[in-house]
Amino acid sequence: MTELPAVSFASLQPEPKASTAVYFVTAGEDLPPPIKRLDKASAGAISRAIEVAEFKPKRRNLLEILAPHGLKASRLLLVGIGDAKTLTHRDWMDLGGLVRGKLPKKAAEVDVVFAGVDHLPEDAPLGFAEGFGLRSYTFRKYKSKAAKSTEGGEDEHDEDPAPPKLAIFSCWGSKLTAKLEHTEAQLSGVYLARDLVNEPANILTPPEFTARLRALEALGLTVEVLDEPKLKSLGMNALLAVGQGSAQPTSVVVLRWNGAAGRSADAGNIVFVGKGVCFDSGGISIKPGPGMEDMKGDMAGAAAVAGAMSALALRKAPVNAVGIVGLVENMPSGTAMRPGDIVTSASGQTIEILNTDAEGRLVLADLLWYAQEHLEPKLMITLATLTGAILVALGKEYAGLFSNDDKLASEITDAGADSGELAWRMPLSKKYNKLIDGKFADIRNLGGRDAGSITAAQFLQRFVRNGTPWAHLDIAGTGMASPSTDINQSWGSGYGVRLLDRFSEKFHETSSAES
Ligand code: BES
Ligand code: MN
Ligand code: ZN
Repeated sequence: MTELPAVSFASLQPEPKASTAVYFVTAGEDLPPPIKRLDKASAGAISRAIEVAEFKPKRRNLLEILAPHGLKASRLLLVGIGDAKTLTHRDWMDLGGLVRGKLPKKAAEVDVVFAGVDHLPEDAPLGFAEGFGLRSYTFRKYKSKAAKSTEGGEDEHDEDPAPPKLAIFSCWGSKLTAKLEHTEAQLSGVYLARDLVNEPANILTPPEFTARLRALEALGLTVEVLDEPKLKSLGMNALLAVGQGSAQPTSVVVLRWNGAAGRSADAGNIVFVGKGVCFDSGGISIKPGPGMEDMKGDMAGAAAVAGAMSALALRKAPVNAVGIVGLVENMPSGTAMRPGDIVTSASGQTIEILNTDAEGRLVLADLLWYAQEHLEPKLMITLATLTGAILVALGKEYAGLFSNDDKLASEITDAGADSGELAWRMPLSKKYNKLIDGKFADIRNLGGRDAGSITAAQFLQRFVRNGTPWAHLDIAGTGMASPSTDINQSWGSGYGVRLLDRFSEKFHETSSAES
């Protein structure tokens, strides 16, 4: 696992000492006084560089000044931020990521000076640190040192140096340190989720995933594992059908965080439910070859649940939360489920399997039953790389959000906007039911070509009892095969961890959620 960069906060100082120093420049104003001072000390090297490079302080514009004479820093980074007043937390995160990406590979330390920029919320340095941390993640454990570089010299097979230490100087000084704990809890939850999504399926099998979740006991989570015999006795046949073609055993893992122990039990838990298909070959309805390797990421929902639960535990969140994941591999074999098979789910509803590649909903159907039967949910959120169709609808920017509860839906949209992990609401409606009514059984697992993400969500809703607020995030577009951004260069983005953590913090923790 990538190490979290160490972050420290201090009061403004006349001149930073680290080898790399970062300053912000706003639009339309003179150079801020701290930069003017440096300019003087360097006999005008900075203003000359600005002139020569025609540097404009538009947001994201960067000017790198190397080895400026007379200064302690050997690398000065001026970062344009445009109109400081308009920057959101997310913008500051992006700037943190942008700066992190500009640092040379072996940079050991960087000083960032929040001075001379007016109208800054104290959120700015924290957002910057968050983005810096998100960008610092790498997954290079399988780049062996044994591999010979074709070019010679240093290459990507070299070991990762420790992440640079980030020192932030601002008018808030070390007061921000208290809030850093929250940021670091989130970051390590995201790192965990990214690691899980990036791991190949020969390593991260259902048993290995289970073992990694067991290890979260060290954080104070209670970890319960339901093995195959237990799942059989519970009647979770829809989930088991998905795994029956695989040589790997299926399991369900329940993670509990009891951070609001004083609250009355009937207040219930917030419950996160994750699809953990460690590899989705499609089964007998096998997927085409090209791109099938991406299906190692079909457990991104479970990874997000694991990451969010670990974040809650790490920051000792005053909330009662439960995460439940179904860990299973979908493979074709002589024991695999077939198209046409009918299974009886734990809820008693029978399901006709028309396409063995529509397996995620089978997994979630039984998990939803278990959650309602055993986990006292006050609300449930499913996270799943459920349908390719959500990519057609929303691409990689927004997850699809479905819910039977307007309040819950708007809380999730809101937490998504705060964290930058966006979600867009899509419809559920009885009108879609005719597409999934079964011919021989109660319900079929295939809705046909149209409205693929909606019929999948509509299928899930059949397993939600009236009165339980439930939301579903289809993260097939946002959780894996992610585009590189300022704050994420990882294939598995860790989408959902920060959204769920923010959702809990903003709407369901004791101080704010007492009702
Ligand atoms: N895991 C896939 C969905 C998926 C697609 C995730 C692309 C990430 C990227 C899911 O199990 C699946 O195969 N869905 C089918 C459903 C269809 C058979 C109804 C799909 O989307 O094609
Ligand atoms: Mn599938
Ligand atoms: Zn799948």
